[in-house]
Amino acid sequence: MSSSENKEKIYIKCIESIRSTSESNKLKFISKLLFESFDSWIFCGFYFQNDNKLLLSEYSSDKIPCSPIEFDGVCGTAILNDKILNIGDVNTFQGHIVCDDNSKSEICIPFKISGVQYVLDVDSNIYNAFCEIDEKYLLEIIKEI
Ligand code: SME
Repeated sequence: MSSSENKEKIYIKCIESIRSTSESNKLKFISKLLFESFDSWIFCGFYFQNDNKLLLSEYSSDKIPCSPIEFDGVCGTAILNDKILNIGDVNTFQGHIVCDDNSKSEICIPFKISGVQYVLDVDSNIYNAFCEIDEKYLLEIIKEI
């Protein structure tokens, strides 16, 4: 099985679990489930907008992440552009906010819950960890919230 096929299989299983869970805290469930499903992930969590800052919501992580964060990082930029931001090498992103030195690549998916701006943020300890498959399935997962 190719690594892409394997990745798809993992996401499909995760989506099944998300659809069938009785856990009422979906953000908590999703961050934990995804974090535990992918070996290279070192942070998977949600930030939400509070005035001109982003505050940490539910997450699973190797280290305690930073909060609040400013809008000039990867998360804030994804929100301001209202577009998925997939950064293959975080060192190339000016303004990248370092919460964990081991982070090499990062993907952010902006979305709203009841008018509040959120972002799903994932960090990996390998470069170029995220591709169109991640973009597609993470967007599908956001729709389940
Ligand atoms: N790197 C993010 C900050 C959040 S952490 O990765 C958990 C950013 O640049 O916005």
